[in-house]
Amino acid sequence: MHPIGIFDSGYGGLTVFKKIAERLPQYDYIYLGDNARNPYGPRSFQTVYEYTRECVQHLFDKGCRLVILACNTASAKALRNIQQLDLPKYGDNRRVLGVIRPTAEVVGNYSKTRKVGVLATHGTVISESYLLEIEHHFADIQVFQQACPMWVPLVENNEHRDAGADYFVRKNLQQLFSQAADIDTVILGCTHYPLLVPKIKPFLPPNVKLLEQGDIVADSLADYLVRHPEIEKTCAKNGQITFFSTETPENFDEKASLFFAQKVNSTQLHL
Ligand code: DGL
Repeated sequence: MHPIGIFDSGYGGLTVFKKIAERLPQYDYIYLGDNARNPYGPRSFQTVYEYTRECVQHLFDKGCRLVILACNTASAKALRNIQQLDLPKYGDNRRVLGVIRPTAEVVGNYSKTRKVGVLATHGTVISESYLLEIEHHFADIQVFQQACPMWVPLVENNEHRDAGADYFVRKNLQQLFSQAADIDTVILGCTHYPLLVPKIKPFLPPNVKLLEQGDIVADSLADYLVRHPEIEKTCAKNGQITFFSTETPENFDEKASLFFAQKVNSTQLHL
């Protein structure tokens, strides 16, 4: 029986994992954050692919067969290569899923103006993954993207509640809405950004829907497991959660507990 693996470049994936663990508490999970090497946002395709592949391999080595990349940057820059180049080598029931497709699949249910904004890391923006995935599901929707390069460092450095964060949040939202004033749905396309919601909301035009990914990904995983009984029946179901980080527990646990809203005790994974 196999735990479900949840991977992120650091803490951000905990915002998604929290919702998954609430929605599907019966399964065993292993969370891995590559805190020692994040942020992934500014890194090249090659580097994000190599780092992500290495971490997915560690999750496989720890017994996972189904791994969720709870990181938009890794989903944008590494998922396709992992699915096409790496998974076929194993020849068994291993699956790696991302967070961009589930988000793209539902965005059309929210937008009336058919103009959608995406806030994400530079890496996710230049990958154009959101443009492609949303066009695939809702050809009538126009997508406008804005990279927010300071938002992850603000969160990682615990500055996201401070006054300095307002400057960057306001600036990037202005840049997004200057592309199209009638955007009515904004995707938080980076798993760190839910921590900035209290800063984002005051600068958002009224009636704009802010889409966080946690519940969307949790619903999508629940649906996936129903549609794939051959995977679901191999999932361990003891409700156990294990945390690993490539950083030391002293550096990971306190902050991770804030993101996860529960006490986190991690073990360091040495790469
Ligand atoms: N959490 C990652 C995401 O969803 C970004 C963090 C990073 O740049 O490492 O894109």
